[in-house]
Amino acid sequence: MRNDLQRVRCQLTESDITQMNYLKAVIKEIFRLHPPAPVLLPRESMEEVSVGGYTIPEKTRIYINAWAIGRSQESWKDPDIFDPERFMDNEIDFRGKDFELIPFGAGRRSCPAIAFGSATVELALAQLVHSFDWELPLGVQPADLDMSEVFGITMHRISPLMVVAKPIFKGI
Ligand code: HEM
Repeated sequence: MRNDLQRVRCQLTESDITQMNYLKAVIKEIFRLHPPAPVLLPRESMEEVSVGGYTIPEKTRIYINAWAIGRSQESWKDPDIFDPERFMDNEIDFRGKDFELIPFGAGRRSCPAIAFGSATVELALAQLVHSFDWELPLGVQPADLDMSEVFGITMHRISPLMVVAKPIFKGI
């Protein structure tokens, strides 16, 4: 019985996540600034089209830079600042309807695993935050962290993140 209680305290479930609005805002902000796939799959126009006053000829290969869109001053106030609060009072989501935030792409070629991918990230991050107190190593300040990324099909940090995890629950 005691072990069961301990497990309940330690494990989050998907139903807990539905109430974690700030966690979801943090994840949106991470996806905005650091989309795992910075450039979407290439598209090709099937016929000549006009977009925003530009004529796109037939068979033009198009690359969409989701990373740059997430940092555009036209779409975002203070785009280089990490500020999850920007998602707390609006309905902007990453499911492909709001073109200023497209970490999973948009349209018919968008990521087919959007529900699985986002649920996995939410559950993993929630469990990590719930189970540990996180600190930077002694003497390291947040401003010291090098947030530069390697560009590629998928994007990751150049320098690995070094943090100290202190378990909150006994037995972890
Ligand atoms: C956080 C996790 C993930 C992110 C951010 C992500 C992002 C993306 C993006 C940006 C695209 C291109 C969409 C476009 O060009 O419009 C894509 C395509 C795709 N993703 Fe994901 N993805 C994730 C997880 C996954 C997972 C877990 C799977 C498989 C289990 C998956 C399978 C695919 C496939 C098969 C495509 C190609 C779809 C096509 O060719 O039409 N993704 N994903």
